[in-house]
Amino acid sequence: MPLKRLNDIPGPRGLADQWSMYRRRYQMGHVLREISQTHGDIARVPVAGLPKVLVSHPDQVREVMVTGAQYFGLCGQDLLRRVVPWTLIAIEGQIHDEHRSLLLLALRKILTRRLLATTILRGAQALSTLRDGDVIDLYQFARGVSLAIAASLLFPAEAGDEVVSGIDHTAFLNLMSQSNAWFLGMPLAFQKICLLFDIRHSLKVLTNRNRVRRQLTAAIKTASSLPRSGANADMLSLITDGSEVGGRMRDEFLEDNLLTILLASYDTTANSLAWALWESSRQPDLQSRIATEGSRLSDNPTDNLEWSNSAIWTDATLQESLRMYPSVWATSRRTLSDYRLGEFLIPRDTFVYTSQWVTHRDPRWFSEPQEFSPERWRPVESNAEAVSPSQVAAPQDAHEERPQFAFFPFGGGKRFCIGKALFDQEATYLLASFFARWESTPLENCHPEPRFGVTLQPDRPMLVRIKHR
Ligand code: HEM
Repeated sequence: MPLKRLNDIPGPRGLADQWSMYRRRYQMGHVLREISQTHGDIARVPVAGLPKVLVSHPDQVREVMVTGAQYFGLCGQDLLRRVVPWTLIAIEGQIHDEHRSLLLLALRKILTRRLLATTILRGAQALSTLRDGDVIDLYQFARGVSLAIAASLLFPAEAGDEVVSGIDHTAFLNLMSQSNAWFLGMPLAFQKICLLFDIRHSLKVLTNRNRVRRQLTAAIKTASSLPRSGANADMLSLITDGSEVGGRMRDEFLEDNLLTILLASYDTTANSLAWALWESSRQPDLQSRIATEGSRLSDNPTDNLEWSNSAIWTDATLQESLRMYPSVWATSRRTLSDYRLGEFLIPRDTFVYTSQWVTHRDPRWFSEPQEFSPERWRPVESNAEAVSPSQVAAPQDAHEERPQFAFFPFGGGKRFCIGKALFDQEATYLLASFFARWESTPLENCHPEPRFGVTLQPDRPMLVRIKHR
């Protein structure tokens, strides 16, 4: 049978559909899900510019990210490159591979030498600010503590509080929420036209970008000027010294990649942790289970090394948060040549989207996908006491035969997230230690919904009242 061409790919098309897409650009996840449900696993997406296709079947997601990865390049990184030209996320080829391995090695060192102690210290500081009966915004709590941890991991301990307090959360948050993924997926010429139409918005993005960069330059200056002691256990020292990570990072890459790690780690972690805190607050049974696991935590890092293996509910809750509210909710690639995907021939220079939001909510892979149900991640009974869900091959969800890429919150292949282990350790500890101390009840009439910026953030404060347990 002859291959079908781009025009044969089903999907909405025409100016009316493009206009409707523009109007709903902050609900892009919902729009993409509707397109996938209506038009199938390979569907056209009506955004202006180069042709765009959404791929939703896990096997084809795997093809784009892993098995056929050499036929796909990056795309939609134009705006990102303006903010951070040398970020790992926007570079390709050998230079990407070299920097990736350098950063991965540095992160591994940080993980073993410092992560748990830093999480315990910063977690305890954040928890100590809460009072019985307080109404708090869980999102703000999660942002504060994950930014403090990220900054402490990036910079030498000696720079600690000075650097952390110099970083303004709001500027970082605004930068992430004002940049929109729909926007990033457009060719630069169209981005410029849209920016012209919305000068106020563009000025805000520019102002925040400049503020964020200024803060980071100041932080690097402060940190570099301080005498260091002991083994290197921070990103800046490890990548400027180079002796432990196979080479020194060149100066022009330094600031961009520190900024990338800071944003990538703080923002994604804060979002996923906040959704896990919020959904657990809505389920009293779940939070008591997490609290029981949290009560076994110790203030001594080495006593906690084995703890996460038995924190079944804490881990399952985070997995479910990553499924329902994937912080990176869509990724985009561009075909480098004509490419056969299923029954279609996708021409060169087509944008190919894969979306965690769409695939994770597909009832073929997850029963009742719109329900927040950590239960689905619990290991089968015989293993329940022994290992945590993320390490178990057969969770209890009805779809035990689920394909690997039905769940891909950290991506896959050569761009698989370098911070997964960091997130796992940090978020598990923070979630359990929060509920070990506090019982949390959502305020009536508070219904945060996801907002589809570059990452998936809640669209309003997540307000809860906390009571001592
Ligand atoms: C909930 C937490 C996180 C989620 C859901 C997440 C998700 C992702 C995803 C989906 C990708 C692949 C993007 C693509 O294929 O285009 C990615 C890449 C990346 N992540 Fe994460 N991430 C998380 C935490 C972190 C942390 C803690 C760090 C920092 C230490 C980090 C740093 C990075 C970097 C630098 C890349 C680019 C890798 C490359 O291009 O080689 N992420 N992340």
